[in-house]
Amino acid sequence: MSQVLVTGAAGRIGTVLRGGLPERGWAVRSLDVVPMTDTRPGEEQVVADTTDLTAMEDAVAGVSAVVHLAGIATESTWPAISHANIEGTYCVLEAARRAGVSRVVLASSNHATGYTPRPDGGLLREVDAPPRPDTYYGVSKAAMEALGSLYVDRYGMDVVCLRIGSAFAEPTTVRHLSTWLSPGDQVRLVDAALRAPAPGFAVVWGVSANTRNWWDLTAARALGYEPADDAEVFASALVEAYGEPDLADPVHARVGGEYTLAQFDAENVEPPLPGGDIAPGSGAER
Ligand SMILES: NC(=O)c1ccc[n+]([C@@H]2O[C@H](COP(=O)([O-])OP(=O)(O)OC[C@H]3O[C@@H](n4cnc5c(N)ncnc54)[C@H](O)[C@@H]3O)[C@@H](O)[C@H]2O)c1
Repeated sequence: MSQVLVTGAAGRIGTVLRGGLPERGWAVRSLDVVPMTDTRPGEEQVVADTTDLTAMEDAVAGVSAVVHLAGIATESTWPAISHANIEGTYCVLEAARRAGVSRVVLASSNHATGYTPRPDGGLLREVDAPPRPDTYYGVSKAAMEALGSLYVDRYGMDVVCLRIGSAFAEPTTVRHLSTWLSPGDQVRLVDAALRAPAPGFAVVWGVSANTRNWWDLTAARALGYEPADDAEVFASALVEAYGEPDLADPVHARVGGEYTLAQFDAENVEPPLPGGDIAPGSGAER
């Protein structure tokens, strides 16, 4: 059985993958700065910081691929974001290169291109949405994609960047009706990114088969991703509570939604708490 290192394994998406990847034939080595108390039989655990290159060289030894989720998953201060998300991604890719691990899946985000406007009609392809970050967080995801591209072109690795939409148990806003990535589809998408034959450098949206999608899934499907869920089953309750989305509202007219609004200006951003956590209430990726 091939083993995959999952960084940020204690987090929301990591916890979903630790449950789902073994059912698809992957042995999981789970890495996080936070110890996990819920590891499953056969799951290895590493407590380490992705910004520690030596620790990452140890962590990748013997695996066939890395799924890199670790980092700050929302807006924060530049020092915090650049260290955890950019330095951390460099260390993961460099450790993989040194160990000869040629496949890395990177958790990018829609916020790498958050200021990209909704097209007048039709679906938005990744090639029509180059980096256009909406926050320091989005800059770190654009840098993540750039680092991935470098390691493919210079070292011949395979790096798949997933521009994840809203990865939650259920959609909780009307924007999520277009951006939701269900737990089951998180597993399907990562599994496809791990198995796609020779993808080279790929950037794909990470959303479910939502009726209201406006991000084109053609490239993700070409990797082998077959989404099974649709946020529309939650639509009537959300629309009743919040109303139909106004497509002229920037929240619905730009890829990054509310991250493009003034509430995410630098002076409104919470600094990380000692230990690296984000202050409660500052909001997760949405
Ligand atoms: N959840 C979403 O909707 C969404 C959307 C787009 C992108 N993403 C990206 O997917 C990834 C996972 O998201 P999530 O929602 O599970 O986030 P999360 O905050 O629940 O989990 C992140 C995990 O990373 C760990 N971590 C942080 N810094 C670390 C470091 N330096 N070394 C080791 N571990 C570290 C944290 O302890 C945490 O367990 C993130 O990179 C995030 O930016 C998430």
